[in-house]
Amino acid sequence: MDAAKGLEVPSETLEAEVKAFFDSAPPLQNSDGITQQLDQFIQRNSSPSANGKARRIVCVTSGGTTAPLEQRCVRYVDNFSSGHRGATSTEYFLKAGYAVIFLCRKGSFQPFCRSLPDDPLLECFKPIDESNIQVCEAYSEAVKRAVVDHHTAVTGGLLLKLHFNTIFEYLQMLQIIAVSMRCIGPRAMFYLAAAASDYYVPWKEMVEHKIQSGSHLLDVKLVNVPKMLSVLRKDWAPLAFCISFKLETDANILLKKAGAALEKYKMDAVVANELSSRKEQVVVVTSAEKVLVMRNKSDADNDVENPLIKLLSDKHGTYIEHPGR
Ligand code: PMT
Repeated sequence: MDAAKGLEVPSETLEAEVKAFFDSAPPLQNSDGITQQLDQFIQRNSSPSANGKARRIVCVTSGGTTAPLEQRCVRYVDNFSSGHRGATSTEYFLKAGYAVIFLCRKGSFQPFCRSLPDDPLLECFKPIDESNIQVCEAYSEAVKRAVVDHHTAVTGGLLLKLHFNTIFEYLQMLQIIAVSMRCIGPRAMFYLAAAASDYYVPWKEMVEHKIQSGSHLLDVKLVNVPKMLSVLRKDWAPLAFCISFKLETDANILLKKAGAALEKYKMDAVVANELSSRKEQVVVVTSAEKVLVMRNKSDADNDVENPLIKLLSDKHGTYIEHPGR
């Protein structure tokens, strides 16, 4: 059972569950290449900047993971998340001076694309002749800003994007990122906005081919995905500043659940959000306080992520000065 639901998971059981999860996962493609990219990114952002301090680095996770039902996957169980929170937060982290490792679901919202229409390539451009394409007047400012800001962040070595689909890819990549970031100690932050599956079918127990229809009952055994938050905190990156999220649809239980997660997983803060109001307000729960953070409708950058990232960045600054917990 999930520890945040109130029942203790003994540490040997968690260890065994974590081992079983990773043992059963199909090997991550290009893990050496990913490690190399990470090492270069972290090294590049670790020399002291103008203020004499090395840049802070945050890993933002974003989007929902899938849990495949077949090895040659046709069907899967998905988790709700558009990736809007992660993409928007990434923009504000960059503005706040962070370098960002953006671990996101393929096809989810991307940083700097919020002002573009949903189908940007088709709606933003028009053909002039056989070989030339022009940006439509209505979108020219938005396209220019998106392209320039994105290009500046990526070529400036401040934004590294890595993509996942499945819960196996997500957790394997999170582990690689955390272990790579261990060397920067408290300068590292994890901002875990991805909606990770709570259940999965172990790879070795999964059928290879597409499940055939015909039966009235789909008999698939899903097992609990171990909560990796405590492993991240304890083993992968013990000095990092860790923010997790708590999503509920029932506002009456939200803060209690967030408080339980904070304590259980030893997070530095838990961002509590209710599904329908998540773009308007969140509550940042720490061991000392609960801070309501609201979207400022009169501000030009009027996303709730604007004050949220300012608050978390301040808390991270204090933590860097006094890293003890
Ligand atoms: O993407 P949007 O549409 O903008 O929506 C944003 C959001 C609502 C998805 C986001 O703000 C949010 O709340 N993300 C976390 C949702 C979630 O999965 O909550 P949870 O209670 O299931 O998990 C809590 C935390 O545990 C999360 O930080 C998650 O990364 C982590 N987790 C979850 C399952 C698991 N097996 N291991 C984990 O480590």
